[in-house]
Amino acid sequence: MDADALIEWALEDAVSDSETPPGPPLLAGAIRHAVFPGGARIRPQLCLAVAAACQEECGGDLLVSAGVGASLELLHCASLVHDDLPCFDGADMRRGKPSVHRTFGEPIALLAGDALIVMAFSALAKACGAAPAVLARVIPIVATAVGAPGGIVAGQAWESEAQVDTRAYHRAKTGALFIGAAEAGAASVGAEPAPWRALGASLGDAYQVADDLRDLLMDGAALGKPAGQDERFDRPSAVRDLGVRGAMAELSALIEAAADSVPDCAGAPALRALVHDQAARLMPASLARSVA
Ligand code: IPE
Ligand code: IPE
Ligand code: MG
Ligand code: MG
Repeated sequence: MDADALIEWALEDAVSDSETPPGPPLLAGAIRHAVFPGGARIRPQLCLAVAAACQEECGGDLLVSAGVGASLELLHCASLVHDDLPCFDGADMRRGKPSVHRTFGEPIALLAGDALIVMAFSALAKACGAAPAVLARVIPIVATAVGAPGGIVAGQAWESEAQVDTRAYHRAKTGALFIGAAEAGAASVGAEPAPWRALGASLGDAYQVADDLRDLLMDGAALGKPAGQDERFDRPSAVRDLGVRGAMAELSALIEAAADSVPDCAGAPALRALVHDQAARLMPASLARSVA
């Protein structure tokens, strides 16, 4: 199985566990709606790519890494369900279809997000069942990436503060889960996570700068979610701080920093290629030319 198929298999395994009767059907439907079909699946891809790079020296089992990657994706999906609710961004569309609360109502959307967060930690426990030492290392990495004071929850909470530093906001909202994906990928095969932190940090920062550019430069139909949100909500953004050209330059610098930060190992060339592929996907050449 290739990495994409492994990730979908691990997600299906986790989601189908929550559909066993006699659970409430609307909740089960909302959970499935939130996870399938997916978006870019970049976080589990990063996790598996780092695991594969480390595996050449450490061994380990990529099925464990896929379960760890799926848990990160479930947490990401939960964050999107909650982010789209009226108390946050009030977004009607996500991944090209009506958002979860527009389809199932707000109470079920709130609960589906909650269930996905719990499911993520069950998926971790299941994936690492035969590798308790891996589980003990991965749980704090994942929890740090999503909780307080520096994970996704904290990132969303910065939007309620009067004074916000754009970098700190972005690092918590987006970067922390990329750092978690890179570190957890290494830990999932028994490798030391610390050398992979810089890759996750640079890639996460790049991803958020690209998201800010796309929010301004693309339309909702192309994005599959509402555009122009940063201006609408007066959110801190790389474009607001640096202008379009400045943000483009920052994106290029962050992509180079991400590629350069890949530790020397047998899997390094493949990982550097993944970084550059992601850069091309995030900022298509035609879009870059249109603002050059
Ligand atoms: C969207 O993430 C929210 C951000 C943190 C930028 P993605 O762009 O990875 O969303 P999907 O998973 O592909 O839909
Ligand atoms: C959503 O952030 C990502 C989370 C961490 C919840 P945004 O609100 O900036 O992203 P989109 O535009 O809705 O995907
Ligand atoms: Mg938001
Ligand atoms: Mg949003």
